[in-house]
Amino acid sequence: MVSQRIIKQRESLPIFQFRQKIVDAIKSQNLLVIIGETGSGKTTQIPQYILESFENCRLIGVTQPRRIAAITVAKRVSEEHDTRLGDEVGYCIRFDDCTSSRTRLKYMTDGVLLREATLDPRLEHYDVIIIDEAHERTLETDVLFGLLKETFRLRPELKILIMSATLNVEKFSDFFNECPIFIIPGRTYDVAINHHRDAKISSLKSTYVQRAVDTALYIHTQEPPGDILVFLTGQHEIEKACFDLDYQARELNYRKDVKYYNEVKDLVIYPIHATLETMEQRAIFEDPPRGTRKVVFATNIAQTSVTIPGIKYVVDTGFVKQKTYDPSTGMDALLVVPISKAAATQRAGRAGRTAPGKAFRLYSRESFEQMEEETVPEIQRSSLLGTVLSLKKMGIKDIIRFEFIDPPDPILVMNALKQLFLLEAIDENGKLTPLGDEMCIFPLNPFLSRVLVASARQFGCSKEVSTIVAMLSVEEIFLTPKNEEKLIEVDEKRKEFYHPSGDYITFLYIFEGYRDNGYDKDWCRDKYFNHRALSMAKNVRDQLRELMQKHEIPIISCRQKDNREDGEDIHRKKRSKKSYYDIKTKKYDFAKILESFSTSYYIHLAKRHPHRPVFYHYASAKVHTNEMVDSNNSLLALHISPTSALHPDNKTVKINNLDWVMYHSVLYTSKALMKVVSKVKFEWVEEKMKLFKKLETVNLNGDSMSKEKQNVKNDDDDDESIVIKSDRISDITEEEKRRKKLEAIEAARQRALNRRSLNS
Ligand SMILES: Nc1ncnc2c1ncn2[C@@H]1O[C@H](COP(=O)(O)OP(=O)(O)O)[C@@H](O)[C@H]1O
Ligand SMILES: [Mg+2]
Repeated sequence: MVSQRIIKQRESLPIFQFRQKIVDAIKSQNLLVIIGETGSGKTTQIPQYILESFENCRLIGVTQPRRIAAITVAKRVSEEHDTRLGDEVGYCIRFDDCTSSRTRLKYMTDGVLLREATLDPRLEHYDVIIIDEAHERTLETDVLFGLLKETFRLRPELKILIMSATLNVEKFSDFFNECPIFIIPGRTYDVAINHHRDAKISSLKSTYVQRAVDTALYIHTQEPPGDILVFLTGQHEIEKACFDLDYQARELNYRKDVKYYNEVKDLVIYPIHATLETMEQRAIFEDPPRGTRKVVFATNIAQTSVTIPGIKYVVDTGFVKQKTYDPSTGMDALLVVPISKAAATQRAGRAGRTAPGKAFRLYSRESFEQMEEETVPEIQRSSLLGTVLSLKKMGIKDIIRFEFIDPPDPILVMNALKQLFLLEAIDENGKLTPLGDEMCIFPLNPFLSRVLVASARQFGCSKEVSTIVAMLSVEEIFLTPKNEEKLIEVDEKRKEFYHPSGDYITFLYIFEGYRDNGYDKDWCRDKYFNHRALSMAKNVRDQLRELMQKHEIPIISCRQKDNREDGEDIHRKKRSKKSYYDIKTKKYDFAKILESFSTSYYIHLAKRHPHRPVFYHYASAKVHTNEMVDSNNSLLALHISPTSALHPDNKTVKINNLDWVMYHSVLYTSKALMKVVSKVKFEWVEEKMKLFKKLETVNLNGDSMSKEKQNVKNDDDDDESIVIKSDRISDITEEEKRRKKLEAIEAARQRALNRRSLNS
C-alpha cells in the first residue's frame, strides 16, 4: 500500500492540478515540449500520469543526463507506484540494468538510449520517449535529438516529449517541427540576491571552498531558520567543506554566537555528489528535527536534477566542473570553470521553492554581468570521439552535415574523424572498418575499445587487458590519506604493486591483489584503494568478458605456462611476505599487453628530454598541427604524475631507462602531468606513424565535397611521395622551432641559476 504521506506529497506538487491537461496534451500531440520549474514534479509525475492514463502503452523510456539521477528517480517512483524496483518501474545505466520483461517505465541515462537507438533506429520497443533535463544539453541528449527526428519520420505514432527547466525552450520546439510547448506555471517565491562586494570570479578559484564554508557558517549564525544549499564542484572539495564546517560548528556557543538561538539550536551537514552512497541517505530529502538546520554541500546535480526540500538559503560559488576539450592532447578533461548567468539564476532559484529565500553569491555583481549567457552545450566543447564513432556505426555518412540542434565545431568533428582514422576504426573514405565495427560492441571510450580488440585479435592477451581496461573505466582507484604520516605509510604499501613498465601492469597487479584477497573491503581500506572503484572494475570486467563471449571475441591469457612456477607461486605467497611484484615478475608476456595498448596510445607518444626528467609530445601534436593548435603545445613539457608507478620518487625505474612513454591524459596543475603512463618501444609504433602522414590525403567525413581530390589521387605512389615531402618540410620547421624554444628555455634557466647564485 502506498502511504498516505506519499499520496499527499504527490497531490501537493505544483504539477498535480494540471494532471488532466497534461494527459490531454500528450493524447493529442505526438511531439511536445514541457517546461516547468525544478521541483514541480516533471520527472517523477509525468511518466506516472502516462502509465495511469494510457493503458495500452507498452514501454515509456525516460532519459536522465546523470546515472545517479536515473537510479534515485527510479527508486522514488517505484516507491510512489508501490512496486518493487526493477518490476514495473526500473532503470538502466551503463553496466547496470535493473529492468525486467514486466518493466513499463524505464529511467535510463541518455547514453543508454543512444546506444539503443544505434542498434534499432525505430526504437520499436517504446511507445513513449521522454528526453528529460533537455536544458542540460549533454552530448548524448543532443545526438538523441537528431536521431529522434529520424525515428519520428520512421514512426510518426511514437510519442516524444522533451522536458526541461525554464531555459531556452523555443529552440527545442523549433527543432522538433515547431511543436507545442506546455508550460507548468511555477509556484516560486522571491529570492533576494546578495553579491559579494568586489570579488572577481577569477580571483576566487583557490579560495571558494573556504569562503563557501565561511558563508554557510555566517548564515547559520546570523539568519533565521531555513536550510542551506551550497554549490561546489566535486567530491573531494565537498568532503573537505563538510569536515571544515563540522569542525567550526562544534566550537559554537549557541547562546552567544547564534542570533536566532531560540529557533536554531543545531546543525546537520550532508554531501551530495555523483556517488550512490550520498544519495541513499534518505535524511537528505527529509526535514531535519525541529531546531536543527540542514546544510547540504552539493555538486551541480542539485541545480536542476535533484530537489532538496526546505532550502531557504543558497550559497553559489560560481564554479562548476565541466568536460572540456583540450586541444593539446586531443582529449577531454574535466575542468573547474565559471558558470553561466542562466546557471546562476537556476541556482538562486533553489532558495525560493517553498518560501521567500536568499542567495549568497561569492562573486561580485560585475562578475555576474560578465558571465556567459548560457552554458555552452557539451557538443560544442568536447572531443566527440565516441559520438562520431556511434554516428558512423549508425550509417550516418556525412557527420559534418548531421542534423544537430547546435552543430559542433566542424574542426572538432574533423579532429575526431582523424583520431578514428588513426585508431583504424574508419578507412580513408570515412567508412567504418570491420575493426571499427567491432569496437562499437563495447561501451568504452574508443581508445580502450581499440586496445581490447587488438589484445584479442592480435596479441593474445585479452584476458589481462580486459581487466586493465576495466580498471581504466572506473573512477579514481587511489585515495589520498589526509595525514602526512599515513601518506608515507600508504605510499610504501603501494610500492609492491608498481611495475617497471608503468601503470597498465600496475593496475593489473592491484586488481589481482584485490582478487586474491577475496575482493575484500578491508584490504582496500588498508592500502587506501577505493573499494567502490575496484568492485566496479570487477563488475565492468565481467561485463566486458560477457560481451566478448557473446560476440565471439576470444578471451586469451598471455600468462606464461609454467606449472612448476605456478605451484611455487602459491606456496611462496602463503609462506612469505614476498611482494606481488617479486612473485609475478615473470608471469605474463608484458610486451604483448603493452603492445596492445600502443595500438591506441601511440597517438599519445612522448619522448624524454635528453637531459631532464620531462617528456614532449611526439605524435599527438602532429594530429592538430594543421588547424588546431599553435605548435607551441608540442613543446609543452610533460611530467609524470606522482600517482604513476613511473614517477621518479617511486624509484620503480630509472628515468634514464625511459626513452619513450605513452600516456592517457594530461592534467594541468602548476605543471602538465601525464596520467596513466607506460613504457613503449618505438619499433612497435613506427609503422603506425605512417597513418599520420596519410591524414593529409584522406576524405574522412565521407561526403561528396572532396570527390575531385579523390579523382586526382589516381597514382598512389606519386601521391605518397608528395605527401611525404611536404611532411618533411613541416618536420624540419617543427624541429627548428623546437630547438629554438629549447635553447631559449635553457638560456632562461641559466640566467635564473646565475641570479640565484649571486643572491646566496
Ligand atoms: N528521492 C526522493 N525522495 C523524496 N522526495 C523526492 C525524491 N525525488 C523527488 N522528490 C520530491 O518530488 C518532487 C518533484 O521532483 P521531480 O519530479 O524531480 O521534479 P522536477 O523534475 O520537475 O524537477 C520534489 O520537489 C521532491 O520534493
Ligand atoms: Mg527533473
